[in-house]
Amino acid sequence: MNKIDKIKLASSYLFVHLSQQWVLMSGLGSCKPSLVCALVNWQCNFKCYFCFHPYYGKREILSLEDWQRILSQLRSWLGTFRMNFLGGEPFLRNDFIDILAHARKLGIMSGITTNASLITEEIAKELSKLDLFSVGISIDGIKAETHEYARGCPGMFDKAMAGIANLKKYCKPDMKIVIRTIIMEKNIDEIIPIVNWIKDWGLTGVIIQPLDYAPILNPVPPPGETLPVDFEKWIKTYSENQVKDLNKIDILCDELIAMKKEGAPILNEPGALEIIKEYFHNPTIRIAQKCQAGVQNFMIVPNGDVHTCVNTVAFEPIGNLKTASPKEIWTSEKAKKTREDIRKCERTCLFFSHAKRSLIDKAKMFIRYI
Ligand SMILES: C[S@@+](CC[C@H](N)C(=O)[O-])C[C@H]1O[C@@H](n2cnc3c(N)ncnc32)[C@H](O)[C@@H]1O
Ligand code: SF4
Repeated sequence: MNKIDKIKLASSYLFVHLSQQWVLMSGLGSCKPSLVCALVNWQCNFKCYFCFHPYYGKREILSLEDWQRILSQLRSWLGTFRMNFLGGEPFLRNDFIDILAHARKLGIMSGITTNASLITEEIAKELSKLDLFSVGISIDGIKAETHEYARGCPGMFDKAMAGIANLKKYCKPDMKIVIRTIIMEKNIDEIIPIVNWIKDWGLTGVIIQPLDYAPILNPVPPPGETLPVDFEKWIKTYSENQVKDLNKIDILCDELIAMKKEGAPILNEPGALEIIKEYFHNPTIRIAQKCQAGVQNFMIVPNGDVHTCVNTVAFEPIGNLKTASPKEIWTSEKAKKTREDIRKCERTCLFFSHAKRSLIDKAKMFIRYI
């Protein structure tokens, strides 16, 4: 990404943020989304205990041609923008590199979130040609057994580490390699060692995410379709893995804030780490006065449905990209109604803990990130 692109991205981000705040506060006017993400498939090669993707099986997904059309439409609507591709596991799609190549051709700044198990030397070489903005890799433990407990697959810690090494070997040094880690009972003592490992390996940083309730974070199938999930068992595992000792959470978050002030590679803003602390003490806490999801998120799920809130149980899709353009969907009556409902939503939602960030926090994060 050259300097001019960075300036263009920063100024369009500022403008979009201000218009989003206006729409959020007044309920009037219009804005464009700033968090565009694309789930390119339902399936995954992992069995993370907190995720629904391992249960999806084969079902409808957008084709390469669909993605090429949608990316072109997004580019002409949003101008300079950044988007993130994920899944399921995106590298399970044979044409994933072709999707990314089309995004690059259009000048879209792309990021990926992956479990890294499929980033072989060949794939890393392909990725090196794509000028990616960032690759986010989910790592939940510094010990193989901890990561593999969470991810449900033996042998995958070494594969993920090999994937990271391949990216470092072949991709340009300005491509961000961001580690995404969920805090849970089993790994709470490994979070600081993960930060130190990131520093030693020269990776960009870590984003820490609390363990959230899966039906909120994973898209649910369309009405009439069910997932073969044993919910009772699932809720038991989820509860067992939630951190119990609140003192440990307080100490961890305080230490992370102090380390960040000393320059440690931690990408959560201090305000967001304070929210994590508050949340564990009071899980029904209201995080933001008005939720920003409706004005900032444009989340495309594999069949082309578009959501604004990640809670696809509570809020229906606002449209489908097979039958309408991104702009038509975002400005539709259904989107307006959903935006109004989300603005009033009173659920606790840690996924958007950054919702409480000030403009200054966002600007600092953005400047550091580019
Ligand atoms: C759904 S995954 C898809 C991309 C890829 N398969 C991966 O694991 O990175 C995207 C991110 O959501 C996180 N995630 C999934 N379910 C979660 C949950 N219940 N609570 C917190 N984070 C979750 C994963 O750890 C990962 O960082
Ligand atoms: S979190 Fe990612 S790696 Fe784990 S099952 Fe879900 S999609 Fe797969």
